[in-house]
Amino acid sequence: MAFYFDDPSRTFSEYLLVPGFSSVDCVPANVSLETPVVKFKKGEEPAIKMNIPLVSAIMQSVSDDKMAIALAKEGGISFIYGSQSIESQAAMVARVKMHKAGFVVSDSNLTPDNTLADILALKEKTGHSTVAITDDGTANGKLLGIVASRDYRVSRMSPDTKVADFMTPLEQIVSAPKDVTLKEANNIIWDNKLNSLPIVDEEGKLVYMVFRKDYDSHKENPLELHDSLKRYVVGAGINTRDYAERVPALLEAGVDILCIDSSEGHSEWQATTIAWIRETYGDSVKIGAGNVVDREGFRFLAEAGADFIKIGIGGGSICITREQKGIGRGQATSVIDVAKARNEYFEETGIYIPICSDGGIVYDHHITLALAMGSDFVMLGRYFSRFDESPTNKVNINGAYMKEYWGEGSARARNWQRYDLGGDKKLSFEEGVDSYVPYAGSLKDNVGLTLSKVRSTMCNCGALSIAELQKKAKLTVVSATSIVEGGAHDVLLKDNRNL
Ligand code: IMP
Repeated sequence: MAFYFDDPSRTFSEYLLVPGFSSVDCVPANVSLETPVVKFKKGEEPAIKMNIPLVSAIMQSVSDDKMAIALAKEGGISFIYGSQSIESQAAMVARVKMHKAGFVVSDSNLTPDNTLADILALKEKTGHSTVAITDDGTANGKLLGIVASRDYRVSRMSPDTKVADFMTPLEQIVSAPKDVTLKEANNIIWDNKLNSLPIVDEEGKLVYMVFRKDYDSHKENPLELHDSLKRYVVGAGINTRDYAERVPALLEAGVDILCIDSSEGHSEWQATTIAWIRETYGDSVKIGAGNVVDREGFRFLAEAGADFIKIGIGGGSICITREQKGIGRGQATSVIDVAKARNEYFEETGIYIPICSDGGIVYDHHITLALAMGSDFVMLGRYFSRFDESPTNKVNINGAYMKEYWGEGSARARNWQRYDLGGDKKLSFEEGVDSYVPYAGSLKDNVGLTLSKVRSTMCNCGALSIAELQKKAKLTVVSATSIVEGGAHDVLLKDNRNL
């Protein structure tokens, strides 16, 4: 006879935290959100930790190099999507590892043969007013000039005017060599009253730009996540098919941590992939696996050697797996069950395997609930897709700005490897949708606000660290009527502010 779980499976919205005692030093400024990312033995330190408990989803519409840099600046890790060619994924990883804080690869580039109209169109597209003029119009071509707003007057010049006729030419530009430090670059900017400083190599090719307006932001990221060489930490998704080619290329590019990206992790495919990594690289390469939703799935991946284990089937915002296939489990129940299995495994073996709740985070407080229930960190797709740094288009729909967000199981992503059960190398049916999400601004501002709520709630529970929260948290299931009581009710709202 089939096995029946005793209780219904529940979502985060069905739970609340009940406050505990907070002492006077239990204030948000004293809260540490540091968290382990990979397994470690009792009494030892994990090889990789994060300063905040957030990772971005392994998705085309979420995690590219730009997202990875922005999130590492705040202390978290992006897992760059694997549903692209090995070369382009490795190139994204390499760009994160080569990124020097304050040194940006120019995103606005044209040639001297372009026109004023092209400059204006590019400015509209990127929102940036400084355009590098290179011989081939790329970010790494030979630098020939710079165009800034002060170089042209739209009202007095024909749109057909060639860039060569009004750019500030190379002879009049102050530039710096590629081994300049950020401090030196900023001094050159100040001494010469510049707005931007091109950094060029020995052949005169543009390498980076340093901007005066970025000066303050360089000092504002106390939680930045670095490797031992002060480069940003970055992860990457892999699949259970082409790992023998993909993994070496990602490692060569400098990736810090891998994760098998699959809709269902309790499978022989994952064990074989992890075994190959262990045989080839021993324990030096760190690999997460998933997704699972119960004790059995956790034990399987733990014994297969996973460094962290991801939880969640069917709860993602763009996910239609439950509708299509009738598999999955409420996210809160999955986390609670897997956390119990993890703790039991720790008792038995002395090995702590971090777990990650993946998908289904709708409100900021869901993050705190996931942590309280035992997650060491959470993976978010929809949340990050709304920011400037996500790779997708920002579009105006009926007067409101939106960002595109599509699932890896949608026809648009064509990521058959994620759903592969040894079949015919194509998606036979969709498990995800293509959608819009409301544009929300910069990652930094949003993550800052979200985590200030997490820290505040942790203080209400008397916890100054995630481990302490997991020990002290008191959770209660809420009734349908008390969920109504939890929002503003029985009043007429004066505006629709999203509190
Ligand atoms: P979200 O944060 O609720 O948007 O969920 C993101 C998570 O949904 C990802 O990290 C994946 O685990 C999962 N996911 C991504 N694409 C799909 C899909 O097309 N179908 C089902 N789940 C998906």
